[in-house]
Parts: sequence; C-alpha cells; structure tokens
Amino acid sequence: MPTNTILVTGGAGFIGTNFIRNTLSKRPDLYIVNLDALTYAGNPGNFNDLDAAMAKRYKFVHGDIRDTGLLQKLFKENKFKSVVHFAAESHVDRSIHGPEAFLEANVEGTFRLLEAAGKYWETSEKPEVFRFLHVSTDEVYGSLEAEGYFTEKTPYDPSSPYSASKAASDHFVRAYFRTYGLPTLITNCSNNYGPYQFPEKLIPLMILNIIEEKPLPLYGDGKNVRDWLYVADHCDALIRVLEKGKPGETYNIGGGAEMKNIEIVHGLCDLLDARLNRSVNDSSRGLINFVEDRLGHDRRYAIDATKIRKELDWQPKYRFEDALEKTVDWYMNNMEWIDSVRSGEYRKWIELNYQSRKKE
Ligand code: NAD
Ligand code: TYD
Repeated sequence: MPTNTILVTGGAGFIGTNFIRNTLSKRPDLYIVNLDALTYAGNPGNFNDLDAAMAKRYKFVHGDIRDTGLLQKLFKENKFKSVVHFAAESHVDRSIHGPEAFLEANVEGTFRLLEAAGKYWETSEKPEVFRFLHVSTDEVYGSLEAEGYFTEKTPYDPSSPYSASKAASDHFVRAYFRTYGLPTLITNCSNNYGPYQFPEKLIPLMILNIIEEKPLPLYGDGKNVRDWLYVADHCDALIRVLEKGKPGETYNIGGGAEMKNIEIVHGLCDLLDARLNRSVNDSSRGLINFVEDRLGHDRRYAIDATKIRKELDWQPKYRFEDALEKTVDWYMNNMEWIDSVRSGEYRKWIELNYQSRKKE
C-alpha cells in the first residue's frame, strides 16, 4: 500500500463502514487497510459493491486489535500515515449482560493498539504527519438533567460498563500523548444513525420491528433524551479532525438534534405507516410496549459542539427529519443486508435481552 494509507480498526461495523465508504469515495488520494475481528457486529460484505477504482485502494485484514504480532506486521508493511480507531464492543445492553468483553476489546484492545502505534512512531523517527484518532462517545460524561450540555471539559462520570470501558480507553489515549508525545486525537460523539447500523440499536431495531409488526420495546417511560447525528456527518467530522485537529486535543461532535426516545419511535411509526399504507386506525404506534428500564439508564445526553465548529469549521449538514427518512428508506431497500446480519446469534441476543424485560 502507498504512503497515503490509513489503518482503520473496526471498519466492518456501523460507523467504520460508513467512514471507509465515504472516505474512499471523497478522497481518491487515500488508501485504507481495515482491521476487524468480525464479531457479531462486523460484516465484511459491506464492501462487496465498491467500484473497481475504490476497491483498489481498500484492503481487509481479519484480525484482533489485541494481536500485537499482527499489529507490528501491519505497521511495518504499510507504514501507516494515521490510525482511525473504531474497533470496540459498542452496545450498552450487551455490556450489562457481559461486561468482560468490553474490558477486553475496549480497554486492552486500545492499549495494545497504542503500544504498537507508539513503537512504530518512535522507530520511524516520529513522523510529523502521523496521527492516532480515537473515536469515542459522549457517554463517558455520564447523564445530564434537563439543562446543560457536555463540553470537552465536563468531568468523566460513566454509568455503564460500556461507557466505563470507553472512558478508560480515552484516558490511555490521552496519557500516551502527555507521556510519550504520541500525536493522538480524541472525539466524543453523540448517538449516530444511518445505513449499516446493527439492528440491536434503537433506530434500526424499531424500523425492523415496525415492518414486521412486532412489539416496540421502550425502556422505562420512553422519555430519555439522546442527541442524534447522521453517520455521514460524523464521518466528515472525523476526517476534519484527522487532518486539521491539534494533537492532544479532544473534540465533541454532536447533531444538535435532541429527541426523546418516544418521539423517535412515533416519528418512525409515522414514516413507515405512510410507506406501508397502514391507516391511522391501524397505526404502528399501537405496537409500542413500555418495558422494564435499562439498569443505570442515563437520562439525557446533549453535546456542546462549539469547539469543533469554531476551530475546525465543522457542523452537521443533514436535518434530522430528512436523514431519518433516508435511513428508513435504506433499511426498506436493503432487507437482504438485514437477513445477512441476523444470524442465530442475533436471535439469541433478542431473546436474552427482551425476555428479561417483560413487565408482568
Ligand atoms: P459496531 O459495534 O457497529 O462496530 C464495531 C466493530 O469493531 C465491529 O466490526 C467489530 O467486529 C469490531 N471489533 C470489535 N472488537 C474488535 C477487536 N478486538 N479487534 C478488531 N475489531 C473488533 O460499533 P459502531 O457503532 O460502528 O461504533 C464504532 C466506534 O464508535 C466505537 O468505538 C463506539 O464506541 C464509537 N461510537 C459509536 C457511536 C454510535 O452511536 N454508534 C457514537 C459515538 C461513538
Ligand atoms: P441505544 O441505541 O442502545 O444507544 P445508547 O444506549 O448508546 O444511547 O439506545 C438509545 C436509547 O433508546 C437509550 O435511551 C435506550 C433506548 N432503547 C429503548 O428504549 N429500547 C430498546 O430496545 C433499545 C435498544 C434502546
């Protein structure tokens, strides 16, 4: 691979897939190596339809970020210009049922990757262009009440094993900048939605359940608030941070689109009812089912994205209403993709998570 090569970890997952596809199409100068362990959330087939010119600049490597030997070999062979680190266990509910996998992938995994990147950077005489971009979440900041926003200075206060493991990984990344000078960047982003999201997360799960006329499980009172960002906007922000961000800095990324879960589900019901010719009397809203709340469920997330807007001139391009429609249409037009990711493992997960939530 040529000198303009980026190592993307976890690129067969939701955001990584969108990042690779967007970057290959918008940046014909860049090459990408995608290292992914292909857990339940990874799908290498997401790149089967790349055109020939893009496919030439893309390489998939099946492997784990904790495999130091593999990492050393990849750095040596490809002399990466930068690393964009997505690989992680990413679902809060799974972290409640099985936290250890989150410690292993998110904390140990990030540590091994930092070690390998750090050794490569030291031995290749600290190239000035090298960057290590760690993709993190706003969940590290904990929960907000009705007022206020997360800034880059908000103290970390994670609630779930997922957010605790992401917080720990952020601390390691920051420590490698402060201690060894490795040129790291951290982004903390709000909830993403869009194509290729695994149907365990709120928006794709609800879309599929509405199509299949299954119950729509809303946790607690359904009034928890998230700040939604269309995944293509997140990917543009990441490229901006990678190319213009200052090493050692953190950037919050958010959509400025705060919504209660119940509002999202109502919106999805209405969009799909129109597409599926369901009448008002037969509205999918009737499928809504309030279930046992998530343990440690954060009430509200909201991002103050002033820093990235002012310093890197980034702001979201998509309006929530338009991008939600695009997302619904993508799922309706890609039912084979959905079938391909719903393995036996997926069915087991749905049973485990939702059986235990039934209210008597
Ligand atoms: P995802 O679960 O869809 O994908 C994760 C990918 O990482 C999968 O392809 C999986 O196979 C791979 N992976 C897991 N463990 C690995 C390991 N040990 N070695 C190599 N690959 C491994 O997740 P996502 O939603 O695309 O999130 C990507 C990143 O963005 C995560 O770090 C997540 O914390 C962060 N993030 C996500 C959101 C969101 O709304 N989805 C918001 C902010 C930040
Ligand atoms: P999720 O998509 O899991 O993202 P996160 O927990 O990282 O914010 O959940 C988004 C919100 O939707 C969160 O408040 C939990 C809620 N939720 C439900 O009410 N029902 C569900 O079945 C799921 C998966 C999530």
